[in-house]
Amino acid sequence: MCGIVGILGTKPVAIDIVDALRRLEYRGYDSAGIATVENGLLDRRRAEGKLRNLETRLMSEPLKGHVGIGHTRWATHGRPTEVNAHPHMTDKVSVVHNGIIENYRDLKEDLTAKGHIFQTETDTEVVVHLITDEMRQGRKPVEATQRALGMLRGAFALAIIFAGEDNLMIGARQGSPLAIGHGQGEMYLGSDAIALAPFTDTITYLEEGDWCVMTRTSVQIFDRDNRAVERPSIKSVASSLLVDKGNYRHFMLKEIHEQPEVISHTLGNYIDMAAGCVKFPSMGIDLAGVTRVTISACGTAYYAGVVAKYWIEKYARVPVEIDIASEFRYREVPLAPGGLSVFVSQSGETADTLEALRYCKRNGQIIAAVVNVRTSTIAREANAVLPTLAGPEIGVASTKAFTSQLSVLACLAIAIGRARGTIDAAKEQELVKALTELPRHVATMLHDESFYEGLAHEISKARDVLYLGRGVNYPIAMEGALKLKEISYIHAEGYAAGELKHGPIALIDENVPVIVVAPEDDLFDKTVSNMQEVAARGGQIVLISDAPKEKAGCRLLAHIKMPKAHPFTNPLLYAVPVQLLAYHTAVFMGTDVDQPRNLAKSVTVE
Ligand code: G6P
Repeated sequence: MCGIVGILGTKPVAIDIVDALRRLEYRGYDSAGIATVENGLLDRRRAEGKLRNLETRLMSEPLKGHVGIGHTRWATHGRPTEVNAHPHMTDKVSVVHNGIIENYRDLKEDLTAKGHIFQTETDTEVVVHLITDEMRQGRKPVEATQRALGMLRGAFALAIIFAGEDNLMIGARQGSPLAIGHGQGEMYLGSDAIALAPFTDTITYLEEGDWCVMTRTSVQIFDRDNRAVERPSIKSVASSLLVDKGNYRHFMLKEIHEQPEVISHTLGNYIDMAAGCVKFPSMGIDLAGVTRVTISACGTAYYAGVVAKYWIEKYARVPVEIDIASEFRYREVPLAPGGLSVFVSQSGETADTLEALRYCKRNGQIIAAVVNVRTSTIAREANAVLPTLAGPEIGVASTKAFTSQLSVLACLAIAIGRARGTIDAAKEQELVKALTELPRHVATMLHDESFYEGLAHEISKARDVLYLGRGVNYPIAMEGALKLKEISYIHAEGYAAGELKHGPIALIDENVPVIVVAPEDDLFDKTVSNMQEVAARGGQIVLISDAPKEKAGCRLLAHIKMPKAHPFTNPLLYAVPVQLLAYHTAVFMGTDVDQPRNLAKSVTVE
C-alpha cells in the first residue's frame, strides 16, 4: 500500500504535493516521486527512500507544473529502487497507484507483443502503457482511461495526468481508498482526507468501482458501469487532527504518553461513570440474542481481538471465534445467520480485514466495526460503528490505538454480559469502576522511564527474546513480542506460558531474555512454575507483575513493578510496559522508531 496525491492548482504544485505526501508517509516510505505537466510536457522527480530524499532532489531540480501527482511507496512488486518508484510515465500519461493490479502479467505480455517497452518491475507500469496504447489509437485521455480501467483486475486507487492537458486529472478507486478535495478554483485527490487537510475540508469519498474526471472547477464521477453518479461532499474534521510531536522525541513516545487521556476519552463514550454502567449505543443489534461472536483483524488489532475473546467468553458466556483476517477470509468459516461479527482496525482500511467483513456480511452476520478512522471503508460498510477516540496515530507501531480498542471491547463484553444476564448490576458496577480507575494506573506507569532505559541496554544485546503470558494476558505477551520485533528488529515471540515446554524452552540459555507478563491473579502461581523452568535453564527473566519480586522464587534480570488493578483491566495496563520496553530498546539501538523498515501503518493490499 502506498499514498497518492493529485493537485490541479493555480501555481506550481510540487511543494504542496510534498506537504501532502508527508502526511501519507504512514502508508509507506520505500520511495517517493512527483510528476507535473509543464509547458504541455510530463516531467518527474523520484528518489529512493524517505520523502526527504525527494525534497532534496526537488531543491536542485524543481518541478514547475500547475497540475501534478505524487506518491509515497510501500513496495509490493519490484524492489524499492528509483526505477520502480512512482509516478510511472510515457510521453503521454503519468500514473500513481496504490494497490495491486492482479492481472498485470497477462496485460504486460499483450502490451509487450504490441511493442511497448517496460522499464520497471512494477505491476503499475501496465496502467501507463494500457492508456498510452489506447491514446495511440487516437482516443482522447478520458475515453482511453475508461477503456484501460475496464481491463484492470485487482485493487487500485489511481491518479492520472496527461501530456498537453494542463487542466485535467483522472482518479479511480477499486479496493483502495481515494478522496476528492474541493478547493477554491483548485481540485485535489488523496488517499485520505488528512493528506488534503491544509488545502480543503470539503471532501467526496469515491465508492468502490468509481472513477472521476476533474478540472480545476469541476468533477464528474462515474460508477463501475460508467454511469454518471452523484456522491455526497462532507466537511472533513481532518484539519483539526493534524498533529506534531510536541516535545517528544518520537510520535510513538508521544502516543504512549497520550494513553491515559485517550483511554479516558474512549471510555467516556461507552460508560456512564456516575451511574457505574455501560451506555452502549443500540447499534441495531439485539445483544441479548447474541449466541455467537466472530472477531477478525490484523496485527496489533488482532491481539486486541484475542483479549476480547477472553473477556466475552468469561463475562458474557458466548463462544467467540477469532482468526487473523488474512486466514479468516479464505477459511470458508460456517456462520449461522444473525451472528455478531466484530472487526477491529485502527485505519479502517486494512484490505484483509475489509474482505473478512464482506465475507461475514454475505453470510448474514451483523457487522460491528471498532475503528479509529470513522470515515474509513470498514466503518462505512459496517452495520454499527464503535469508534475508538484515540486521535490520529502516526507511529507505525500501534500503541494508543491498541489500548483504545481494548477499552471499547471491554465495554462491549460488559454490554453483552448485561444484556444476556450473565453478569448482574453489581458485577457491572465493579467492572466499570475498574475501567474508570485505569487511566490513573496507566499514568503512574509513565512517570519515570529511566528504569526502561537501563533495561533496554540489556535487551538490545539479545538475538531472541521470548514473551510469556497466560489467559487474558497471553495476547499481551504476543503484542509485546510484536512491538519489539517491529521497531528494534530483534527476533521475539509471544507464547502461552504453559506452551513453553512444548518447544520454545529449547531456545533458552543465558543469552535469551524471557519477559513474563504475570499479574498476581488466579493464574499467577502456574506462570511462576513456568518461570522456574526458564530459570533452571539459565534464562534471563524480566517479570512484569504487581506481585513482589520475592514471589518469583528465582533470580530476575529485572522486575517491572506494576500497580495493583482489577484483573479485568490488566491487559490494558500491562500493554504499557511492553510498549515502553520495545520503545527504549529501539531508541538504544538507533532504529527508525516511527517508521521502521519494511512496515507501513495502513496495509491496503492482501
Ligand atoms: C499494520 C500496522 C499495525 C496494525 C496492522 C493492522 O501492520 O503496522 O500497527 O496493527 O497493520 O492495521 P489496522 O489499521 O487494521 O488496525
